[in-house]
Amino acid sequence: MKVVTLRSPGGLDQLAVVEREAPGEPGPGEIRVRLHASSLNFHDYGVASGMIPTAAGRIPLSDGAGVVEAVGDGVEELAVGDAVVSTFFPDWLDGPARVGDFTTTPGDGVDGYARERVIRPATWFTRAPLGYSHAEAATLTTAGLTAWRALVVDAGLKAGDTILTLGTGGVSIFALQFAKAMGARVISTSSSDEKIERLEALGADHTINYKAQPEWGKTVKALTDGRGVDHVIEVGGPGTLPQSIEAVRIGGHLSLIGVLTGRGGEIPTAKLMAKQARLQGLIVGSRTHQQEMVRGIEASGLRPVIDSTFALAEIAEAFRHEEAGRHFGKICLSI
Ligand SMILES: NC(=O)c1ccc[n+]([C@@H]2O[C@H](COP(=O)([O-])OP(=O)(O)OC[C@H]3O[C@@H](n4cnc5c(N)ncnc54)[C@H](OP(=O)(O)O)[C@@H]3O)[C@@H](O)[C@H]2O)c1
Repeated sequence: MKVVTLRSPGGLDQLAVVEREAPGEPGPGEIRVRLHASSLNFHDYGVASGMIPTAAGRIPLSDGAGVVEAVGDGVEELAVGDAVVSTFFPDWLDGPARVGDFTTTPGDGVDGYARERVIRPATWFTRAPLGYSHAEAATLTTAGLTAWRALVVDAGLKAGDTILTLGTGGVSIFALQFAKAMGARVISTSSSDEKIERLEALGADHTINYKAQPEWGKTVKALTDGRGVDHVIEVGGPGTLPQSIEAVRIGGHLSLIGVLTGRGGEIPTAKLMAKQARLQGLIVGSRTHQQEMVRGIEASGLRPVIDSTFALAEIAEAFRHEEAGRHFGKICLSI
């Protein structure tokens, strides 16, 4: 079977498609999955580009979707023929967050899903939404679940709330879609006027070009009659947090999800305190969160926005497309 490995010390030219022996039969509690799709995240880019060090020969990609081909003894939740999607934290099944690193994350601490087949414990996967293509299902493991957890689990989103999304990457577009599906108002930013048109087509109530308006926090306040937004999907980190803190309402909530602008910097702590806002870091979610999200997707009919799909052998080109930042929504791989 075909497998992608990452040679040391990483870098997109160190990705190689190799032949490996296909896995045999699953043991007790395990399933064998024929993977058909994956999707790229900023984290996967970090690993593939060598920015995030990983073991030599690592199989990249955290997201995997496909069909169950065989089940081991004792597996009752999933059956042969089921369409499934992988989970980001294989050991975090339920309850409050209990993993604070990537040592168990496929495609980083352990081998991921840039391959044709895999045998894993059944609990490393959940059912995919009914009617989803494998590419659509593959977008859920990381980007979809992060947006769902931020809004539904942590922020307690309700109809009538106003949320702010930053940029047009996978997480932000999912947040826009979940928020609209649940009756919220959405203010979205992008660096591109062309992408802004697409945000509006997806239902964004207001849009802001953050390059043209560097003080976009004030614009967000003006758009909410001076009140500010209830929740911010913060994917920028230090370079955007000051504006996000400006944009959030008193007593509002900021989900600190990404660090696209860097890992450390100056934060207006006094303003955050005066706003009495909650700033919450998070990493993806549990298997139970994923099962709840799948039910939510089936009830709402939400479909992910797929920017483009590359073949497995074109994985380096797919990452270069992500690196260029021209994408809108998710970049997928077909396996
Ligand atoms: N904590 C978690 O669980 C978790 C999960 C997933 C991702 N993340 C993190 O969240 C971030 C986004 O991930 P992703 O996979 O959605 O990325 P992505 O698909 O690669 O999206 C990147 C997009 O972010 C926007 N962007 C870049 N710089 C920006 C800035 N200064 N202000 C506003 N928007 C900016 C750009 O949108 P425009 O082109 O429209 O300007 C760009 O297209 C990354 O830092 C990633 O590591 C964290």
